[in-house]
Amino acid sequence: MSRDMFVFKAAVVGAGVMGGEIAQVIASADVPVQLKDVDRKFVDAGLAKAREVTQRQVAKLVEKGKISQEQADAQLEHTLGLITGTTSYDGFGDVDFVIEAVPEKMEIKHQVFADLDAATPGHAILASNTSGLSITEIGEITNRPDKVVGFHFFWPASYMRLVEIIEGDDTLPETAQAAATFAQQIRKVPVRAAECPGFVVNRILVSTASEIWRYQDETGASFEEIDKVVQEQTQMPMGPFRVADMSGLDTTVKVARDLHDAYGDRFYVHRAMEELVEQGNLGAKSGKGFYEHS
Ligand SMILES: NC(=O)c1ccc[n+]([C@@H]2O[C@H](COP(=O)([O-])OP(=O)(O)OC[C@H]3O[C@@H](n4cnc5c(N)ncnc54)[C@H](O)[C@@H]3O)[C@@H](O)[C@H]2O)c1
Repeated sequence: MSRDMFVFKAAVVGAGVMGGEIAQVIASADVPVQLKDVDRKFVDAGLAKAREVTQRQVAKLVEKGKISQEQADAQLEHTLGLITGTTSYDGFGDVDFVIEAVPEKMEIKHQVFADLDAATPGHAILASNTSGLSITEIGEITNRPDKVVGFHFFWPASYMRLVEIIEGDDTLPETAQAAATFAQQIRKVPVRAAECPGFVVNRILVSTASEIWRYQDETGASFEEIDKVVQEQTQMPMGPFRVADMSGLDTTVKVARDLHDAYGDRFYVHRAMEELVEQGNLGAKSGKGFYEHS
């Protein structure tokens, strides 16, 4: 894919916390997108998420008087019509850009990238939404490591504008440039980040969260109170415990552990969060974490 090539069709692999919304972002920019997961129930949950987000967006436009209810209904159906939910790689034969959003484990990423290498045309860029795994290592499983790149969204993907673009050792500069162009095509703001654990944003965010987690573990202070204070005093939309619940406690623990392994004790893994994960309480996606979720 050359640097000025347009993405006519995209795909997202993994329809979990991130994948459903990423597909929605792509479809909202008028680009057809395949949304794949391993089981129909996960695909349907991803499609339901995309519907919910689009409904909210068009309702806001109606509220502001920018479009009529009729136009909103048409927009909703148009956007959702661009997303094809699937459990197979049929339909990947003519994609230009794929975003992988499967769990943060190298074995799973390797399996998916090997499959994608076989299922997609040779020009297609294979991007990973990994929070911190090595892009070089992910790309090594493919015959096109030069076309493998990090493309890191933030939760919630439909709302957060930043996307980190990460080059592995073998990524061609043209690939990173094409990824940055695609980020703009889907109305995001690309920033180039070096390939290091946590990239830029998580390194800063988790470092801040680490101190709060350490304080909570050491003092046993109420996590609801901490969330409330952080939200009120810093004008953040959510405190760190609720954010962790919403993004998935398994993913948050994995990212914190990787940062601790890479940088030592200035990063901290919250003990109560690890215990919740061990019990299968992963936050909103499993119904319970620090909070109960309906
Ligand atoms: N949750 C966040 O806040 C966040 C933010 C930025 C990046 N990320 C990264 O995005 C990736 C996905 O995270 P998530 O929170 O959406 O995870 P998740 O566990 O919510 O969803 C992952 C989905 O991938 C599916 N899956 C597993 N194997 C698959 C396969 N072979 N083919 C297709 N689908 C498969 C699972 O069934 C699941 O639905 C991770 O690498 C994570 O680090 C997460």
